[in-house]
Amino acid sequence: MDKWRFYDIIHQKHVCYNPMLPANLDRLLSMVELKPGSSVVDIACGNAELLIRLAEAYEVKGMGVDVSPYFVAKARSAIEARCPSADLQIVEQEGKAFTAELAGRFDLVSCIGASWIFGGHSNTLKALTKLVEPGGLIIVGEPFWIKEPADDYLEASGIKRNDFSTHYDNATAGKAFGLTLVYTFVSTPNDWDMYEGLQWFAADAFAVANPDDPDVPKLLERVAKEKEVYLKWGRDTLNWAIYLFRAP
Ligand SMILES: C[S@@+](CC[C@H](N)C(=O)[O-])C[C@H]1O[C@@H](n2cnc3c(N)ncnc32)[C@H](O)[C@@H]1O
Repeated sequence: MDKWRFYDIIHQKHVCYNPMLPANLDRLLSMVELKPGSSVVDIACGNAELLIRLAEAYEVKGMGVDVSPYFVAKARSAIEARCPSADLQIVEQEGKAFTAELAGRFDLVSCIGASWIFGGHSNTLKALTKLVEPGGLIIVGEPFWIKEPADDYLEASGIKRNDFSTHYDNATAGKAFGLTLVYTFVSTPNDWDMYEGLQWFAADAFAVANPDDPDVPKLLERVAKEKEVYLKWGRDTLNWAIYLFRAP
């Protein structure tokens, strides 16, 4: 099954495509206190929820990039429906290539839940630091190990031990680039359950509504496997946080 279609279907019930509760997204956005006209770029913007809320709260000028044609279409139609006069632009492109071509510096730069684009958390902070104005803000979202992952878990999930680090390491990784950590939003087990559970729920709803869709057997098989891996190991091994950094 096409991977972007898979991700689209399993995110049909989410507001944010990461384990942050929408209420925490609002809290985070209330903290950034941008001036009207501030410039924002969101790498791997998903459905553009972050950009839309920033435009609604602060009238920012924003740009988002995402590689999924489904999410790009969703982002554009959400902007059209919710804030058609906002200065928001969505680009369908691979994030690293897009970032390499990006001209200018931004007041806020983010990449939430997609650090593989730059080869991990530290490299993401390094890449985003090059894009942010002096004194500007960087928001990243990244999983972290709560405890050493079991070999069975790594094998079943396909995650590598070095894909992620500890919360301490994530939180302090910005020092290498002169960034100051100014806040963290650490998910609770309920937040993770919501993020994972909404995927099971969306897949089930899709299968019920589209029983003849040829992708349904693969969809349900993959979601069942990921559910088992999450319940057996992931829930107690991996957590998630949003990190807010201030550039020097
Ligand atoms: C976990 S979701 C996070 C989306 C959004 N940042 C949010 O928090 O709601 C990961 C996003 O990364 C996008 N993505 C994956 N690989 C990418 C790439 N190489 N370049 C740009 N976007 C990518 C996916 O399409 C998806 O929207």
